[in-house]
Amino acid sequence: MSDKARLVVMISGNGSNLQAIIDAVEAGALPAQIVCVVSNKAKAYGLVRAEKHQIPTAVLSRKKGVSRAVYDAELGHFVANFQPDWVVLAGWMLVLSLEFLRFFPNRVINLHPALPGQFPGTHAIERAFAAYQRGELSQTGIMVHLVPDEGIDDGPVLATRTVPILPHDTLDSLEERTHATEHQLLVDVLRRLIQGVIDVPL
Ligand code: GAR
Repeated sequence: MSDKARLVVMISGNGSNLQAIIDAVEAGALPAQIVCVVSNKAKAYGLVRAEKHQIPTAVLSRKKGVSRAVYDAELGHFVANFQPDWVVLAGWMLVLSLEFLRFFPNRVINLHPALPGQFPGTHAIERAFAAYQRGELSQTGIMVHLVPDEGIDDGPVLATRTVPILPHDTLDSLEERTHATEHQLLVDVLRRLIQGVIDVPL
């Protein structure tokens, strides 16, 4: 029996945050095993990253004509079979309904590249940069939160980090700084959750 936390990581794209988790696990910095990487996109590069490390992968896309409720319930059953301690949304870009979430109360965490209440949804970094250029904000940030319901990038906040926006920044440089901050924070929050330092009721 392993005493390592079982993680299912859900992705839709590049998977650089998945890579950060893989690297932390392999370095012995995170007492966890990734039991499956699930993508809703067959071409997500994160699948290649997982396969390079012999991590099981699955692609579950929502097919035409299948309702969201049915898709989410099937996804929930599929993920539940892996008996995860934590379900990590690391760039998973579909909103999950209670048909999925009811399997994992207080056990789904989401990473979002903005501070709580700011820029929910897609292209958050781009929208923060545009707001900076309009003089509306001087910094942005990232957060990790629990996913209790269908609220988009919303839920009890586990941790945040601010990310400064510098005068010479381009969108690329801000994205790079934001992702580097995410890679650290996501692993840090997972470690603290697994060690019980952050207390989340079961
Ligand atoms: C990350 O920036 C993550 O915060 C964001 O998708 C990116 C995935 O990058 N998630 C959201 O915007 C959720 N609304 P990655 O595939 O390289 O890890």
